[in-house]
Amino acid sequence: MNPDPSAAPPGSALPPPPDVAPYLTRLFSLEGRTALVTGGSSGIGRAIAEALARAGASVVVVARREAELAATADALTALGCRAAWVSADLGDREALRSAVEEAAAVFGEPDILVNAAGINLRPPMGELTDEEWDTTMAVNLAAPFLLGRRFGPAMAERGHGRIIHISSQQAHRAFVRSGAYGVSKGGLESLARSQAEEWSPYGVTVNTLVPGFVLTPLNARLATDPEQVARLAARTMTGRNGLAEDFAGAAVFLASGASAYLTGQSVFVDGGLSVH
Ligand SMILES: NC(=O)c1ccc[n+]([C@@H]2O[C@H](COP(=O)([O-])OP(=O)(O)OC[C@H]3O[C@@H](n4cnc5c(N)ncnc54)[C@H](OP(=O)(O)O)[C@@H]3O)[C@@H](O)[C@H]2O)c1
Repeated sequence: MNPDPSAAPPGSALPPPPDVAPYLTRLFSLEGRTALVTGGSSGIGRAIAEALARAGASVVVVARREAELAATADALTALGCRAAWVSADLGDREALRSAVEEAAAVFGEPDILVNAAGINLRPPMGELTDEEWDTTMAVNLAAPFLLGRRFGPAMAERGHGRIIHISSQQAHRAFVRSGAYGVSKGGLESLARSQAEEWSPYGVTVNTLVPGFVLTPLNARLATDPEQVARLAARTMTGRNGLAEDFAGAAVFLASGASAYLTGQSVFVDGGLSVH
C-alpha cells in the first residue's frame, strides 16, 4: 500500500503511549493472593514460585530438603517478596497432612495451589518394583489429589481459586522409559479435568502445564549426554530445550484473573515438541 503523502511522518504526531501498568496489573497481578507451591525449591517449581511471588503472591514452598527450601525462601525475600517454606515428604500421607496445615497457617489458606513436586525413577518396565510404582504414584498423583481435596472445596466456597498441575509429555506419549512416571502423569491430567469439572462452577480453575524436556536436576543424568540433549532440542520447533524460567509467564497467567475462562486444559510449554 502506498503511504498517504499528506500523513504526518512516522513518529512525529503519535499519541503518547498508554499507561500499560494499570492494565497489566488488573489482568495479571497476584497481590493479596496466597500460593502453595510443591517442589518449589528446585527447577520448574522454583521458577514458578519466584514468578508468583514477584507477581505479588505470598508463597509457601514445600519439598523435602531443608537447605534448598530455606535458600529459595531467602532468595525470594531478598527480592522483596513474601515467602516461607515447609519441609515434608509428600509421598508420606501423614507427613503431607501435617505439612499442608503448617503451610496454610503461614499466610492463610492458599488461593493458588501448584503441584510441581515430582519424581522420575526410570527402571526398565519389567523390573519396576512395587515400591517404585507406589512411590511414583504417591508423589506424582496421590499428593496432588490430597492437596486438591484439602484446598479445592475451600477455594470453591470462597468463590475463587487456581490449581495448576505440572504433568509431562509422557502423559501423551511414551518417551525415554516412561514406566510408572508416564502413567502417573497421564492420571494427573485426568485428575485436573475431574477437579475442573467439580470446582470451575465456583470460580476455581484447574489446568496443567505440560513441559517438554527442561534442563533441571530431574533429568541430570540424561543431560550428561550432549548428543541426546541436542537431539531433543532438534525435535522442538524453537530449536532449544526448555528452561525453568520458560514456565514463569504461563504460571502467572494461569494463577491470575486473566485466565478465569480457561479450565480443564493441558497447556504445552514445550517449544512445539508435542506438535512437531
Ligand atoms: N525437567 C523436565 O524435563 C520435566 C519434563 C516434564 C515434566 N516435568 C515435571 O515438572 C515438575 C518439576 O520437575 P523439575 O524438572 O523441576 O524437577 P526437580 O528440579 O528435580 O524438582 C523436583 C522438586 O520436587 C521436590 N520433590 C521430589 N520428591 C518429593 C517428595 N517426595 N516430597 C516433596 N517434594 C518432593 C524436590 O525437592 P526435594 O527433593 O527436596 O524433595 C524438588 O523441589 C515435576 O513434576 C516433573 O515431573 C519435568
